[in-house]
Amino acid sequence: NKSLTIAIDGPASSGKSTVAKRIAADLGLIYVDTGAMYRTLTFEALKNNVNIKDQKALVDLLEKTEITFEPDEKGQSVFSNGVDVTYGIRDNNVTNTVSVVAAHPKVRQLMVKRQQDMAQDNGVVMDGRDIGTVVLPDADLKIFLVASVKERAERRHKENKEKGIFSDLDQLKKDIAERDYKDSTRDSSPLKQAEDAVRIDTTKMTIDEVVDTIKNLIKKA
Ligand code: C5P
Repeated sequence: NKSLTIAIDGPASSGKSTVAKRIAADLGLIYVDTGAMYRTLTFEALKNNVNIKDQKALVDLLEKTEITFEPDEKGQSVFSNGVDVTYGIRDNNVTNTVSVVAAHPKVRQLMVKRQQDMAQDNGVVMDGRDIGTVVLPDADLKIFLVASVKERAERRHKENKEKGIFSDLDQLKKDIAERDYKDSTRDSSPLKQAEDAVRIDTTKMTIDEVVDTIKNLIKKA
């Protein structure tokens, strides 16, 4: 399993991270949440008043920002220069602006390099938008997870409720649809299914069913 690489892509809130975490834990692979990396840069930009439209300023900021992951009982925590940002990067301010930051080609170039380095000596499950197409084009298995906007918004709504966070279902639907649109229409490595990826529509599936489906594909791969 040491060198097994699995790429999981798909739109916002399609269940990528939940599924990727489970598979990584079960197979003893490292889980790399690439969305968390773009979120961390966005979080730092907002905190340091860096203009998210200024590519050069974002690149400078990213070069000064070490992003690391540490496994723990909740799954995984994210650190920015050693500071725990696991919760901060899920804030609405970050969620609603991260697609602007992630659209800059030079930001992507640096992120992709870091992501490829992480997969260099380790077996990984990596999730994001461009993993199968750009970051790990030779992955052993590529999965493209999709679900209807309605289903994804309802899942997120339920999660928020369980966490005691206020959320408005209609607003969630709008935000998810807008992020899908921005991520799929940008010029620089847009969200797109790789030709050799297996597409799984999770709208009517449970997490266990999705995990089992992927594990069976891994056995075959
Ligand atoms: O996966 P998550 O929803 O946390 O990703 C946050 C945002 O980061 C996405 O909406 C997208 O704009 C960007 N992203 C990306 N490429 C990746 C992962 C995430 O552009 N590989």
